[in-house]
Amino acid sequence: MSSEHQAEREEHVTRQVLESFAGSTTPRYREIMEALVRHSHALVREVRLTEQEWEQGIDFLTRCGQISDDRRQELILLSDVLGLSMLTIAANAPEEPTATESTVFGPFFVDGAPEVPFGGDIAQGASGQPCWVSGQVRGTDGSPVAGARLDVWEADDGGLYDVQHEGDVTQGRGHLFSDEQGGYGFWGVTPTPYPIPHDGPVGDLLAAAGRSPMRPAHLHVMVTAPGYHRLVTHAFVAGDDNQRGDAVFGVKESLVADFVEQPAGSPNPTGRRLDGAWRKVSFDIVLNPETRTDERRSIPSGRREGA
Ligand SMILES: [Fe+2]
Repeated sequence: MSSEHQAEREEHVTRQVLESFAGSTTPRYREIMEALVRHSHALVREVRLTEQEWEQGIDFLTRCGQISDDRRQELILLSDVLGLSMLTIAANAPEEPTATESTVFGPFFVDGAPEVPFGGDIAQGASGQPCWVSGQVRGTDGSPVAGARLDVWEADDGGLYDVQHEGDVTQGRGHLFSDEQGGYGFWGVTPTPYPIPHDGPVGDLLAAAGRSPMRPAHLHVMVTAPGYHRLVTHAFVAGDDNQRGDAVFGVKESLVADFVEQPAGSPNPTGRRLDGAWRKVSFDIVLNPETRTDERRSIPSGRREGA
């Protein structure tokens, strides 16, 4: 068979599949599915995918699904290590240089974490060096944002989140609200670097690529407030070498903060009794007003046609 004939045979398949989405229920659905078909078919052509490799791919995705449950999310992890999570964030990030930058959501958020008051402790027994985290929530115009909800979550000093431990414990996570001046403050533990779960298919992917599963030390922060665009971000710990090879490409220079060690016995913001050294970090949060991002989000062609 000539190569021309072969190419025509392959393109015929792609055309047929593209046409099958002509009756999609929304223009946006059609746009996304057609792009998925075009790009995935192009991949098969580009690498001349073998049937055995196709089977391996199916097996890999099957294993990603099978290992996932309400405490483990392998597909977010897959998106993270392929940089798809960070690319989606970049594609949606408002172009406001003064706002706090976004980074990956990650697979370890759990809905319904307990509320802690100002000065409360989210560690709840998680092992690690105590760390006082405080700052102010503001808008890009500099005005304080009162009543902003901060969801925070982090691993213990063994590099594990509560959901990775046996049993149904809630540790190292919680939510709190900013005060009238936008201020917030809580106790947690000093973040430490950790490997993403690499005992499953995503771990196999990294091993096959000769890649490290390590993430630099970080605290997860998600901030929501009426009238503002939701922020999903991290505070990274300054001086951590792992920032150079983050397995999920999440590091942004502007999010690196000084977690300053305080000697044992030094007074702390809530008068808490502490046996040893502790740390403190100041992490201000600047939110984008909702309207600006809403305008950007109305760009998809489907909605434009309908407008
Ligand atoms: Fe994390």
